[in-house]
Amino acid sequence: MRISIFGMGYVGVVSGACLLRDGHEIVGVDPVAAKVADLSEGRSPIREPGVAELLEEGHKTGRLRATTETRDALTNCEMAWICVGTPSGPDGGINLSAVENVTGQIARTLRDSKARPLIVLRSTCLPGTTANRVIPLLENESGLAVGKDFHLVYHPEFLREGSAVEDFDKPPKIVIGEARSGAADLLVKIYEKYDAPLFRMGFNEAEMIKYSDNLLHALKITFANEVAAVARSAGVDARRVADVYCADTKSNINPRYLRPGFAFGGSCLPKDLRAILRYASLKSLRLPILESMLQSNEAQINELIRRVVKYQPETVGMVGLAFKPNTDDMRESPFVKVAKALLGEGIQLRIYDPVVQPERLIGSNKQQVQKALRHLEKLLVGSMEKLTETNLIIINQPIVDVACVRQWLDAGIRVLDLADIRGVDRNTEGYEGIYW
Ligand SMILES: NC(=O)c1ccc[n+]([C@@H]2O[C@H](COP(=O)([O-])OP(=O)(O)OC[C@H]3O[C@@H](n4cnc5c(N)ncnc54)[C@H](O)[C@@H]3O)[C@@H](O)[C@H]2O)c1
Repeated sequence: MRISIFGMGYVGVVSGACLLRDGHEIVGVDPVAAKVADLSEGRSPIREPGVAELLEEGHKTGRLRATTETRDALTNCEMAWICVGTPSGPDGGINLSAVENVTGQIARTLRDSKARPLIVLRSTCLPGTTANRVIPLLENESGLAVGKDFHLVYHPEFLREGSAVEDFDKPPKIVIGEARSGAADLLVKIYEKYDAPLFRMGFNEAEMIKYSDNLLHALKITFANEVAAVARSAGVDARRVADVYCADTKSNINPRYLRPGFAFGGSCLPKDLRAILRYASLKSLRLPILESMLQSNEAQINELIRRVVKYQPETVGMVGLAFKPNTDDMRESPFVKVAKALLGEGIQLRIYDPVVQPERLIGSNKQQVQKALRHLEKLLVGSMEKLTETNLIIINQPIVDVACVRQWLDAGIRVLDLADIRGVDRNTEGYEGIYW
């Protein structure tokens, strides 16, 4: 396939080198003449293991060319990859000027020529950029319609500098955003021999996924360093601690605790976090990430209360009061905090939790819940059916099924789902997922 790559930086050059090796014909496009000169001679403008060799070999076969001219690049081209930079602007916001420049150049060339390549945007862009900035620009400047005259897809890159060729060859995943299914078929074809999970979705989701990855990486690094600071001050080798927490692939390095839902709580996480923060402050350690976790958690709780109060319900039902299913432990359950706040707003509550039995509560569990909810026994109902006498139901725990949710919605009861009950149509009137 003949592929033009706009932006011969790290992403563009690595992609070009690997695609050359796969037998494609590559035209590298960049306004920097020195880069074009290098590539025209089969030399790499960047230092990255394996790239120089791939470019040299590809150049010998005559399948590598470079140019500063958009028209030249788009002639007979089947795909045009956009790999230009999206750096920070002075206020920290994304600077899209290179994306807009190259999009404008491509659009004007399409207007004046017969070229109709599949356009593949690879630059990291905020959700909404492809749909609201790139497509209008392409259509206005070309006079053509995306999805009709030619296709555009958003295809984030996940390579890491230093191991970029290896990452291109064995990607953790291939993510493609498209406006309609089939738009990306030509792109999918070049990955036929690549062994990686393929995810096809809308533009905004694909754009967001790139950021979620980088935010998670940044969080993991800062987390590891803050834990290491605590360990060091306690005379513990932080590398050994990391070896062991990384070895736990059941609870730690796996999707558990990584899915959106509601605030954390229970008898361990808040207390242990507070203990470490107190320890750190006595040792004069600064741990901004760990310090902000309780604040972030509190914000989740306050936001839920705001969302419920907004509907001015007379009576609210709750499914689950303990911090998770199959336990009656309500110590620091975020749902107890929500219940207390709603009572404070003058809202009546009906709470169904099949495991919580007030007469059997004991010890600190009993003391804590009684402090927050003095007449717990009057709030609890013995069956799910009793929740139908409410205006709004908050599903705290995944202990109801889709049929039950549909029944409530049909009865005109608003449902706020924190537990991601499977099978519910997200667009049903009255249904709200906490983050979906
Ligand atoms: N570097 C990485 O490890 C990495 C990994 C994944 C994603 N990304 C994302 O990929 C994008 C590219 O990153 P990069 O590090 O390769 O950028 P880079 O700055 O190394 O390269 C960008 C290239 O685009 C060229 N360019 C600017 N305007 C152009 C135009 N109008 N036409 C053609 N070329 C033009 C520049 O001269 C430069 O050579 C960014 O959005 C980045 O966030 C980067």
